[in-house]
Amino acid sequence: MSTLVNVKNLSVSYFTYAGEVQSVRGISFDIEKGKTTALVGESGCGKSVTSKSLLGLIEKPGVIKEGSQIFYEGKNILEFKDKEWFAFRGKECSMIFQDALVSLNPTMMVGKQIMENLQNHNDAHLSQSEIQKRAQEMLDLVGIPDSHACMNKYPHELSGGMRQRVMIATALITNPKLLIADEPTTALDVTIQAQILELMKQLQKKLGMAIIMITHDLGVVADIADEIVVMYAGKIVERGSNEEIFYNPRHPYTWALMNSVPRLDLDNKQELVTIEGSIPDMINPPKSCAFCSRCPYAMNICAEYEPETVDLGNGHQVACWLTDPRADITGVPFHTGGGKHE
Ligand SMILES: Nc1ncnc2c1ncn2[C@@H]1O[C@H](COP(=O)(O)OP(=O)(O)O)[C@@H](O)[C@H]1O
Ligand code: SF4
Ligand SMILES: [Mg+2]
Repeated sequence: MSTLVNVKNLSVSYFTYAGEVQSVRGISFDIEKGKTTALVGESGCGKSVTSKSLLGLIEKPGVIKEGSQIFYEGKNILEFKDKEWFAFRGKECSMIFQDALVSLNPTMMVGKQIMENLQNHNDAHLSQSEIQKRAQEMLDLVGIPDSHACMNKYPHELSGGMRQRVMIATALITNPKLLIADEPTTALDVTIQAQILELMKQLQKKLGMAIIMITHDLGVVADIADEIVVMYAGKIVERGSNEEIFYNPRHPYTWALMNSVPRLDLDNKQELVTIEGSIPDMINPPKSCAFCSRCPYAMNICAEYEPETVDLGNGHQVACWLTDPRADITGVPFHTGGGKHE
């Protein structure tokens, strides 16, 4: 494997009137070339802020704090000048979002929008008609039935699933090495969601880009992610391969996320288990384990000191006092959270 992106000690804060919102608090992880890394966690845990940092899109009052580094193919992109960002965004790295209707331009025909991205990064000096041809080929590639007609449609004339396909075509026409997908299927119904995820998997096989899949739903990543990074309150609490996270999860927050995935194999009337309590105030995040107030296995130490990140081997890391050999783990269901819900 070779590393495409290396995030080191990334911290991002928003300086608001109420105080410093510590959105991301010193996270480190790698993204391997051609692989899918999932960033998973409840709303507000810092997933989108992390992905915006990768594209240089943190705006005031947000600040990427000193000591943070993001290496892309060995270069620290946080030192990029505007010109370098322009060359990077949409070319090396593209992003797709939850709501295509918001991110596509409602006043511009689909074909023109897809072409525009390639025109901005036309290193190969393609002619207008070649670019047009490429745009239509992209629509074919993402499974739009009548690509020729679609070129001349406006986004609102398409269904949600088709719009999402158009956004993927726009993002991938420059053949980026990295695609960031921020909750790309959250607004879609379950069947369309599965189709879009399958499409992303196939395109990755064909085009070879790395994907960062951002989602609050661990169920979405079971089939698609190679690596899983679980975030809570601006930190990484557990990370590891898909196998390790689903079959050997070690953090109580990961267990809670797993229990909140709807199980299609069980009675479909079964209620979704939500995680009780809420995420901590990010203006004054706890100095101890941030999950402490919601964790059924919390010990006294958890409220006092933050657990260190421990390497369990196989690239599996976890930050929880339960992994300390001195912890009393009687009654802690270590291997019961796991398994994929098909
Ligand atoms: N522009 C902003 N101003 C103030 N706080 C922000 C801003 N953007 C994000 N935050 C805060 O940063 C934290 C992480 O947000 P975000 O990364 O969007 O979460 P999510 O994991 O749901 O994508 C949240 O507490 C959010 O309120
Ligand atoms: S450190 Fe303690 S409170 Fe935090 S997740 Fe582990 S057991 Fe629960
Ligand atoms: Mg988000």
